[in-house]
Amino acid sequence: MKFTTFEQTINLTNTMIYTLCYVSKAAENLNASSVEDIFLTTQSNNTQKNISGILIYGMGNFFQVLEGEETVVEKLYEDYIKDDPRHSDIFEVIRRKTENPIFEAYSSIFTIVKTTQQLERIKTYLKQHRVNSTGEKLGRLLKPFLLEL
Ligand SMILES: Cc1cc2nc3c(=O)[nH]c(=O)nc-3n(C[C@H](O)[C@H](O)[C@H](O)COP(=O)(O)O)c2cc1C
Repeated sequence: MKFTTFEQTINLTNTMIYTLCYVSKAAENLNASSVEDIFLTTQSNNTQKNISGILIYGMGNFFQVLEGEETVVEKLYEDYIKDDPRHSDIFEVIRRKTENPIFEAYSSIFTIVKTTQQLERIKTYLKQHRVNSTGEKLGRLLKPFLLEL
């Protein structure tokens, strides 16, 4: 019995979730259909990769949270997202392991966070990672996305 518990602990440690959150500036020439392309690719790829999170586009900026297996999230970010010419000026807010993933199913929303549930989830996420969302730089970056932050 003890052995089983030990194994489960190891397993849990190994499958600890990793999270990455950033804000970036959308490319100047990005139109609605290019943004939609990004959302469609994100939704289908991330579902396949068991990555959850949120992607928001608004006021010429992107805000994204990714939660999933560490190597999968890091590879996606390092090999694709970071070098994608459709955005620049990436400001990483959070990039670490986490025990409590906040986003269960991948969801993506345009423009501004619409429901209080979505807003609460993002607030919980930032709070859990001890990110002071009212801190100067981050506050300024997040304000367009989170109406009442
Ligand atoms: C702001 C932004 C966020 C993105 N987020 C994701 C993402 O979460 N998952 C993903 O697969 N691609 C994302 N992409 C697109 C990738 O950079 C890349 O184009 C895509 O992964 C290639 O997938 P494909 O080979 O299936 O076309 C994002 C792009 C931008 C500009």
